[in-house]
Amino acid sequence: MAGSSFGTILKVTTWGESHGPAIGAVVDGCPAGIPLEEADFESYMNRRRPNGGPFSTKRTESDRVEILSGVFEGLTTGTPISLLIRNSDHHSGDYDNLKSLFRPGHADFGFTAKYGIRDHRGGGRSSGRETAARVAAGAIAAKALRLLGVTFETRVISIGGIPFEESEKIASFIEECRARGDSAGSEVECIARGVPSGIGDPVFDKLDSRIAQGIFSIGAVKALEIGDGIRASSSFGSENNDAFYMEDGSVRKLTNHAGGILGGISDGSDIRLHVFFKPTPSISLPQQTVSLEGSDVPLTIRGRHDPVIGPRAAVVVEAMTALVLFDSMLLNMTARFSRIQDFYRP
Ligand SMILES: Cc1cc2nc3c(=O)[nH]c(=O)nc-3n(C[C@H](O)[C@H](O)[C@H](O)COP(=O)(O)O)c2cc1C
Repeated sequence: MAGSSFGTILKVTTWGESHGPAIGAVVDGCPAGIPLEEADFESYMNRRRPNGGPFSTKRTESDRVEILSGVFEGLTTGTPISLLIRNSDHHSGDYDNLKSLFRPGHADFGFTAKYGIRDHRGGGRSSGRETAARVAAGAIAAKALRLLGVTFETRVISIGGIPFEESEKIASFIEECRARGDSAGSEVECIARGVPSGIGDPVFDKLDSRIAQGIFSIGAVKALEIGDGIRASSSFGSENNDAFYMEDGSVRKLTNHAGGILGGISDGSDIRLHVFFKPTPSISLPQQTVSLEGSDVPLTIRGRHDPVIGPRAAVVVEAMTALVLFDSMLLNMTARFSRIQDFYRP
């Protein structure tokens, strides 16, 4: 299947289906010498892992990442890093009735139209489960970035339009959604701090366009804002421009409406993203659909599904952003001949 690889120097390929024996990622182009052990993946994986809580599917997976290659004596070796995550808690029988039906809002129709065959069990390759492999790959990028002074602050902003801090309101809203057999949309914010200026390339590989590709590759993402995003379209230039000033010999900005990127290149301020998720497509309310044979049929979906995607996908947003940023920082190493001379000059 084309389109399963992402990145230029740091190239990530994910593989596997929701109800296959395992899923995983191969991370090629990672520089040698980064300290890396299985424990580095744990906190990242736990943030995405279904935990039986109010915001997640009842499917439980340990999501332990096994490193099969590319790490020796606790350091990356510069060779492909192969990561394996076993699938264990799948109930494929729950999906039997979906073999010949298209779930509204899901990828079923598109996959059938394109390939003529699809693994319908748990959504196959289009399942949110695939994102576990990206999170594992992203954990490597996040670790490298941390060592380079880049950190992330990622959180859920709202669920169904309700601010996430209103925890009681959110809890009863989700409970009502679940009880009704419905799902809700959500919004996630991701801020990357400490990104040096000068990262990203002009024109087609602008940092914002590369981030957008990474973020829009996550299932259920319907919109992305960088900096003020949509609000910039209704503001004046005099409000939207971030004034520059000098501080301790460095160029700084008084405000950050741009979200840390100017001309496709980072400006040294925080990179600020807002990501908008549609409601989970698999709902248990009765729906109308069409069968493979071409007849109109009623649909009832079984199986275990997330009532809302943002809380589990927040770390996926962070992982994709980390992959783009680390790759872009690696690409930046060849931007100036003087740096190449510094390295190779005899
Ligand atoms: C972390 C995560 C978890 C998801 N969980 C579910 C789920 O439980 N049920 C479901 O129908 N879709 C789920 N999705 C969304 C589908 O993967 C996605 O809507 C589907 O592939 C169709 O793609 P599109 O929404 O980008 O068009 C999840 C997505 C993510 C990122």
